[in-house]
Amino acid sequence: MTRGRFITLEGGEGAGKTVQAARLRDALEARGVGTVLTREPGGSPGAEEIRRLLVSGPVERWEPLAEAMLHAAARRDHVLHTIEPALERSDWVISDRFVDSMIVYQGYGQGADLEVLERLSALSLGGFAPDLTVVLDIPVAEGLRRAGARAESNRYERMGTEFHERVRQGFLARAQTDPERFAVVDATAEPDTVGRAILRVVLERLTVPFDG
Ligand SMILES: Nc1ncnc2c1ncn2[C@@H]1O[C@H](COP(=O)(O)OP(=O)(O)OP(=O)(O)O)[C@@H](O)[C@H]1O
Ligand SMILES: [Mg+2]
Repeated sequence: MTRGRFITLEGGEGAGKTVQAARLRDALEARGVGTVLTREPGGSPGAEEIRRLLVSGPVERWEPLAEAMLHAAARRDHVLHTIEPALERSDWVISDRFVDSMIVYQGYGQGADLEVLERLSALSLGGFAPDLTVVLDIPVAEGLRRAGARAESNRYERMGTEFHERVRQGFLARAQTDPERFAVVDATAEPDTVGRAILRVVLERLTVPFDG
C-alpha cells in the first residue's frame, strides 16, 4: 500500500486555517482520497488533554521552553496515535497547525532559543516531517479582527499585537528557508479564492492518486 501524504496548515490567529483545512479535506475526499483532518495542539486523546493546559488560563502561565515541551509531548502522542496510523493505511492527513507553530510561537513570538526548539522538534519527531506545509499569510490586524469575531478568545489570541507581528514574520522566515516543504498563500481573499489557491499548491506538489 502506498503511504498517505501529510499536509499541515500554518499561520497566525484568524488566518483561516480551520476553515481551509475542512475545505481541503472535502476537496481531497471528492477526488477519492481518504483523508483525516486533525489539529494541534491536540489530535489524539492524550494530546487533547495537554491542549487544555496550553490554550486556557493566564498568558504568563508557562515559561516559553516549558510551553514548547508541552507542545512537543502532545505532538509526539498525536503522531504516534493519530497521524502515523492514518498514513500507514494510505489516508492523507491534514493538520490544522503542527511543529512550525511551536517554533514560531515559542521561538519568534515568546523568545525561546530557536536552535533549542529545533533540537526539541528533532527529539520528539525523529525524522518525521510534513510533506507540504501551507502558510496562510494575513496582516495581523485583519487576522485578529476575524478571530475576535468568535465568541471566546483563547490564551494565544490574548498575547498582543507585537507578539502576533513576530509570529507572522516568523512563519514567512521559516517558509523562505525551506521552499521545498513550504508554500505561502495569501489568506486575505475570500474563502473560495484561498481554497482554490491551496488546492492548486497541493495538486502541484503532491501526486493525488486516481480514484479506485
Ligand atoms: N477568507 C476569509 N474571509 C473572511 N473571513 C474568513 C475567511 N476565512 C475564515 N474566515 C473567518 O474568520 C474567522 C477565523 O477563521 P478560522 O477559524 O478558520 O481561522 P484560524 O486560522 O483557524 O484561526 P485560529 O488560529 O485562531 O484557530 C472565522 O470566523 C472564519 O469564518
Ligand atoms: Mg483555528
